[in-house]
Amino acid sequence: MNNDIESVLLDEAEIASIVKDLGKKISEDYKDKNLLLVCVLKGSVCFMADLMRAIDIPCHIDFVSSKSYGSTTVSNNAPDIKAKFTYEDISQFDILLVEDIFDSGRTLQEMTKLIRAVGPRSLACCSLLDKPDRRDKNVTMELDYVGKQIPNAFVVGYGLDFNEKYRNLPYVGILKECVYR
Ligand code: IMP
Ligand code: MG
Repeated sequence: MNNDIESVLLDEAEIASIVKDLGKKISEDYKDKNLLLVCVLKGSVCFMADLMRAIDIPCHIDFVSSKSYGSTTVSNNAPDIKAKFTYEDISQFDILLVEDIFDSGRTLQEMTKLIRAVGPRSLACCSLLDKPDRRDKNVTMELDYVGKQIPNAFVVGYGLDFNEKYRNLPYVGILKECVYR
């Protein structure tokens, strides 16, 4: 897998430092709330696992899923979203959506619309990575917590995939174009 990587964008130490800072900030902001961290599968699995351990206040966890890429590096116009919580009543929760990357922005925009409709006490979004250059002009929402802004390149690792591969790389790297061209 390492041979398919052009360059490392975030190494393990940088990821750990970003996650620690986010965890600290979230712990402060939510200390008087009822935090429910919601992981957007599958790409956020590593980030969620680390972020929840960087948070030192009580929190609940849940999972929703979204798929916007197949075997391409360009996201679909209509992400396939499954926002079914394991909790029956979410009106008691302050939900923080945990996403791997904010790209066109369509996934989180759609997801937040669906979740607002079921009435959480509050709803905010956290993404490890943000690619501002790729934002769809119809996306008006903004992130509440951002790990790092990155240039417009296709990245894999630390949960992020290309065609379901590379999720288990411990760092975030730019994929060589020859792998997907
Ligand atoms: P959006 O709806 O375009 O914002 O896409 C968000 C989803 O697309 C993310 O949750 C990722 O799963 C995926 N995605 C976007 N950019 C990349 C990338 O550079 N590498 C891998 N997956 C990506
Ligand atoms: Mg994702």
